[in-house]
Amino acid sequence: MEISGCRVLITGSAKRVGKVIALELARLGAAVILHAFKSNEAAAAAASEIEALTSCRPLVLSGDISQRETWTAMDSEIEKHYGGLDVWVHNASVFAATPFFSVSDREWQHFMDVNLKGAFFGAQVFGGEMKKKGRGKIIAIGDVAGELIWPSYIPYSVSRAGMHALMKGLARLLAPDVQVNVIAPGPVLLPENTDDAERQRILETIPLSRIGEPEDVAKAVSFLMSNDFVTGQVLRVDGGRSL
Ligand SMILES: NC(=O)c1ccc[n+]([C@@H]2O[C@H](COP(=O)([O-])OP(=O)(O)OC[C@H]3O[C@@H](n4cnc5c(N)ncnc54)[C@H](OP(=O)(O)O)[C@@H]3O)[C@@H](O)[C@H]2O)c1
Repeated sequence: MEISGCRVLITGSAKRVGKVIALELARLGAAVILHAFKSNEAAAAAASEIEALTSCRPLVLSGDISQRETWTAMDSEIEKHYGGLDVWVHNASVFAATPFFSVSDREWQHFMDVNLKGAFFGAQVFGGEMKKKGRGKIIAIGDVAGELIWPSYIPYSVSRAGMHALMKGLARLLAPDVQVNVIAPGPVLLPENTDDAERQRILETIPLSRIGEPEDVAKAVSFLMSNDFVTGQVLRVDGGRSL
């Protein structure tokens, strides 16, 4: 697929990795659509940055992805403004360490609702539209934790494993019209409260000897957008951490 001119929604794109993906795709000529949940001011600022780069202000959508209605509302807005979607980059998620024996019902449900149910209903809406139109790509940003299951992050890791499984199933269901892949980053942008000792500890686990950068993920997104013979894959962008 030609990146230039294609209509692409990036969920969770007000800041951090999602914003970098949006800026990179805008730079490559895609018509990007931003989405935020709580960071609406940051999303407006990201839209201004993209406008300055491309002379075109992107649509900014908002909503809680764990609610099915958010997806149908986003779909109608996209249809109204752009006449459809070529690529859905599903980047939004929740992430936190959770000591296994004290995980509450509410915490468990929150990971499943946002990270798994959200992706499922998004796939129903956008996967269905793409199948009908006979073309499209879905690129979900997962996590190597979904393959390796970090013991201090079991609810998060399980929600990511479920999302990876969902995308592999979709790749078969939606073939040959739609390609569906997962990018599984390792550490590319540490949580803001990470201290130096923790940063060093993480660094020592990465064979390529650096924390990744959001741009490493953005480049993997543009690779999957422009390659039409890859589907059902989990592409690890983790500096070899999972080896
Ligand atoms: N950062 C890393 O090193 C790393 C490593 C491995 C995997 N990943 C994956 O890469 C992706 C991006 O990473 P990140 O660190 O940039 O992510 P992040 O900052 O933790 O979250 C991205 C966005 O998700 C949105 N979000 C959270 N709950 C939501 C909900 N209920 N409805 C709608 N949106 C919701 C938030 O939007 P608002 O701010 O607007 O509320 C947030 O800005 C994530 O899927 C993450 O799991 C990241």
